[in-house]
Amino acid sequence: MRQQNNVSGVNMEFEELVKTRRSIRGYKKDPVPLTVLQEIVEIAKGAPSSMNTQPWHMHIITGEPLERIRKGNTENMIAGVAPKRDFPMKESYEGVHRQRQVDVAIQLFSAMGIERDDKARRTDWVMRGFRQFDAPVSIVLTYDKYLEPAAISQFDLGAVSYGICLAAWERGLGTVINGQGIMQSDVVREHANIPDDQNIMICIAMGYPNDDFSANDVKSVRANNEDFVHFVGFEESPSKPLTKPKKEIA
Ligand SMILES: Cc1cc2nc3c(=O)[nH]c(=O)nc-3n(C[C@H](O)[C@H](O)[C@H](O)COP(=O)(O)O)c2cc1C
Repeated sequence: MRQQNNVSGVNMEFEELVKTRRSIRGYKKDPVPLTVLQEIVEIAKGAPSSMNTQPWHMHIITGEPLERIRKGNTENMIAGVAPKRDFPMKESYEGVHRQRQVDVAIQLFSAMGIERDDKARRTDWVMRGFRQFDAPVSIVLTYDKYLEPAAISQFDLGAVSYGICLAAWERGLGTVINGQGIMQSDVVREHANIPDDQNIMICIAMGYPNDDFSANDVKSVRANNEDFVHFVGFEESPSKPLTKPKKEIA
């Protein structure tokens, strides 16, 4: 039985897991044991899904096939092959969404000491993404094509993805969910042997974090609750703090 906070019933280990997790973009070369990957899958598949459809397929890739994907992605991007996704998506953000995108990029570049006008290092950073951040494992998530228009199934894949990230983090493994690795979806399909009747949604790079890679320390910022929570029908004032303030020390 895990440690419980008796007052509120909060599982402190879970909170710590959620609060410490962050995306990892620099990895050790050490392989991830198959048994550990199987444990992670076992936990992540507990995610809820629409009508319990569990519409996800997980293609867990390592070794030679992953090397071929890195190479193919890199070659295509350098050759200027237009990114190809299996589903329509908005390519650019606006307003506050754009601002948050810029903010996290500033955090990452600053951690890496990459200057704004250092084109070579900025390009190198972007290429890392196409190489799956040189992680030893990449999990490509797909769903059956017939499910299109698949917003609900894509939602379900999001839920299972977060489960993968948390289960990995609990085992000392880092992850970064990323679109960069599957932008050249034909390359991924070919080398991972993904059937034509599945749409490639996203991938998750995974491995043991390289503690010397400074971007791994970046903790991205979240909006204030007031900016996105809309309480309806409550008698208490929503402006009250959600958590009890700590007693002030006299
Ligand atoms: C659907 C999705 C796609 C993402 N794509 C990328 C990506 O292509 N490259 C990247 O470096 N990070 C990518 N990320 C990671 C986000 O940048 C990261 O989750 C966000 O900045 C919050 O930071 P955190 O994960 O450290 O809390 C993606 C995350 C999600 C959920």
